[in-house]
Amino acid sequence: MCGIIGYTGSQSAAPILLDGLGKMEYRGYDSAGIAVLHEGEIEVEKAQGRLVNLLERTDNGKKPVGFTGIGHTRWATHGAPNDINSHPHVSGDGRFAIVHNGIIENYAQIKEELAAKGHVFVSETDTEVVAHLIEANYSGDFKAAVMKAVSRLEGAYALGIVCADFPGTVFAVRQAAPLIIGLGIGENFFASDVTALVSYTKNVIYLDDGEFAEVRPDGFTIYDSIGRPLEKPVSRVAWSIEAAEKGGYEHFMLKEIMEQPAAVKEAIAPRVKGGEIKLDDFELSGEDLRDINKIVITACGSAYHAGCCGRYAIEKLTRIPVEVKLASELRYEDPIIDEHTLMIIVSQSGETADTKAALEEGKRRGATTLALVNVVGSSIARLADHVLYEWAGPEIAVATTKGFTTQLALLYLFALYAAGKLKRIDDFEYARLLGEICSLPKRIQNAIDMNSAAAERLAEKYHGSTSMYFIGRNTDYAVALEGALKMKEISYVHAEAYAAGELKHGTIALIEEGTPVIAVCCNEDLLEKTASNILEVKARGAEVLALSFRENRDIIAHADDVLFIPRTETFFSEAVAIVPLQLLAYYVARDNGCDIDKPRNLAKSVTVE
Ligand code: G6P
Repeated sequence: MCGIIGYTGSQSAAPILLDGLGKMEYRGYDSAGIAVLHEGEIEVEKAQGRLVNLLERTDNGKKPVGFTGIGHTRWATHGAPNDINSHPHVSGDGRFAIVHNGIIENYAQIKEELAAKGHVFVSETDTEVVAHLIEANYSGDFKAAVMKAVSRLEGAYALGIVCADFPGTVFAVRQAAPLIIGLGIGENFFASDVTALVSYTKNVIYLDDGEFAEVRPDGFTIYDSIGRPLEKPVSRVAWSIEAAEKGGYEHFMLKEIMEQPAAVKEAIAPRVKGGEIKLDDFELSGEDLRDINKIVITACGSAYHAGCCGRYAIEKLTRIPVEVKLASELRYEDPIIDEHTLMIIVSQSGETADTKAALEEGKRRGATTLALVNVVGSSIARLADHVLYEWAGPEIAVATTKGFTTQLALLYLFALYAAGKLKRIDDFEYARLLGEICSLPKRIQNAIDMNSAAAERLAEKYHGSTSMYFIGRNTDYAVALEGALKMKEISYVHAEAYAAGELKHGTIALIEEGTPVIAVCCNEDLLEKTASNILEVKARGAEVLALSFRENRDIIAHADDVLFIPRTETFFSEAVAIVPLQLLAYYVARDNGCDIDKPRNLAKSVTVE
């Protein structure tokens, strides 16, 4: 969702704000703006469209001049993405400017009240109301006005606020949206995401819900919701700025695909010690696990697909029933979750609003909660009883790749860990499967090497298609789901995934001469079954692109085109099988001239429900 940033120090604020917005553009990119304090005045520049438009308007940050400011990159919720609705928003008297990530649910009521008192609003946004509300509560005390205004707000918000009367001061407020304070020397920052800050400082403080910070060049004070100063620990960001840069690749997505072997290794290797799996602080005995009668995996988007993949390994290995639920559905379902439920919450960003709400619902009902998260210190990581970090490093492309495969690595580790504790498999099988998990980075590398050129070549053939169908059974179906999502989100080609056996129950009516069907055939137990489905669609004119391993002669004979992966243990094959489909989606999107890292209408971190 939107990204916000604030700076106060001795350097010119605008270039720092613009640089930070560039790093956070993946959070939303339909408009951007900055406000800078200068000689008792607030100067605002905003521009509809990508950040490049704002760069042009500000002459690359040469204006507005000043040393304190706030910035915003937007993913529109209230009002169209135009210059007027762009943030920052300014109070009627021009004394306050504000940037906001989130949604103010009761803005309409507050707007009505303020309008009755003579406030005039220029935008359609919920955010402008907050600027006016602060103005209405101001009588010379900036902090008091912010506190009074915030006490009226309902919803999710991270706010950055400047006041023309307080040069050098920015306020940052957090309620259910990420906010991080960056600590420099003679300068301080806030931002929605550490990627905006690491060029300047690696020392950060994660604010919690209800907290707010007064940030000045020479220091900062963090307050709780009733204004009492708080001591908060300073965390050190573990990665360098290079990790958040393209490093010679045309797109972040391609770089992140290529980083998968290293990222998956980073997720696995530190958790394998002396031939055993150690899941950080997450220790469950066989007895604890026997007390669990159900595992609920909940997530959104690709993370949901990771859950769909992981379910097979967990059920097969542990025999504990697993339900995979869309977080946006679970939260309103009156779910059957209790103290005998283990809830696994999967989220790359750790900030997805629906996923967080599902976690809260699970906690309310007494479940043990384990979060699989990439972003350190994120809300979900901090809310869950236990967290396993993906250690994938920053993922910038909106379409996830290494975030997804590292989630799979953690789910596989969990499956084998639990099977071992429950003594469902013998030592020999445990060691063999652990060897298989540890060989995933190598296999993913092989999959990249085997498919980069082939996917690029096949994209030339398939990129003009209007519709594609992805089919597979069991683990292959889960791969098909994620493969189809990758294709549609970045290339805008209509792509649907079906369980291979289900296609004939209706959807096959859509197959006509030349319709591409991508058949995932990597599950050793079901090759013949999927081969029959390939024949069914071929008989109706489909052009079949199969994904399998070289040893599978049958499928090679039936398909029009083939992508190969190295033969991989079925339990863990999804993490390898998805790689050629990521590459195919990437090259189809490139051939279609799409904005691969920032697909239309999407945002990487969806902090609204
Ligand atoms: C957004 C992104 C998806 C992502 C989903 C869940 O929709 O565009 O790529 O899979 O959110 O994100 P999370 O951060 O919770 O894994």
